[in-house]
Amino acid sequence: MRRGTTTLILVGLALATSGQSCDDSEDISHAGEDLFATHCSRCHGMDARGAGPEAATLPTRPTDLTRLARSYGTPLPYAELADLIDGRGEEHGGRVMPAFGDRFFADRPEDPKHEETKRIAIGLILGYLDTLQESPGDGRDDA
Ligand code: HEC
Repeated sequence: MRRGTTTLILVGLALATSGQSCDDSEDISHAGEDLFATHCSRCHGMDARGAGPEAATLPTRPTDLTRLARSYGTPLPYAELADLIDGRGEEHGGRVMPAFGDRFFADRPEDPKHEETKRIAIGLILGYLDTLQESPGDGRDDA
């Protein structure tokens, strides 16, 4: 099986169920967890706290992603964070974190849904990270 196929199936599943009721949010969170494990955990760690196996080899410590809500507030600003993870908009160098916009599904650039699939994959990961946020307070219900 080609690499990336499982991921695409998961993304497809999540897409297929995303219009349905909240019972499906479990599945979507699992798809995001799977993507995170594959692409992010080597630096950020499976618990997302920044201590993955490669963290010590990097010049900058990977961000503790359980604290995104503290830095960015709740609900998390998905569009802003998706752009950060995509990384292609950043002209200046110096970032340690790879630009995933160049990497996700790079083995199938011919796919006409390429950009859409990337965006969905990043969205799924953010959905998973959302479930890991330390509670920054109880502002969420007031909005
Ligand atoms: C090669 C190691 C590495 C990998 C792989 C990696 N990151 Fe990072 N990440 C970093 C580092 C280091 C930083 C700190 C900022 C910097 O120097 O780039 C960071 C920062 C971040 C930030 C914080 C941005 C901010 O400024 O607040 C987010 C969000 C993030 N990473 C998400 C992810 C996600 C999601 C993935 C998987 C798709 C991922 N990272 C994969 C190393 C990595």
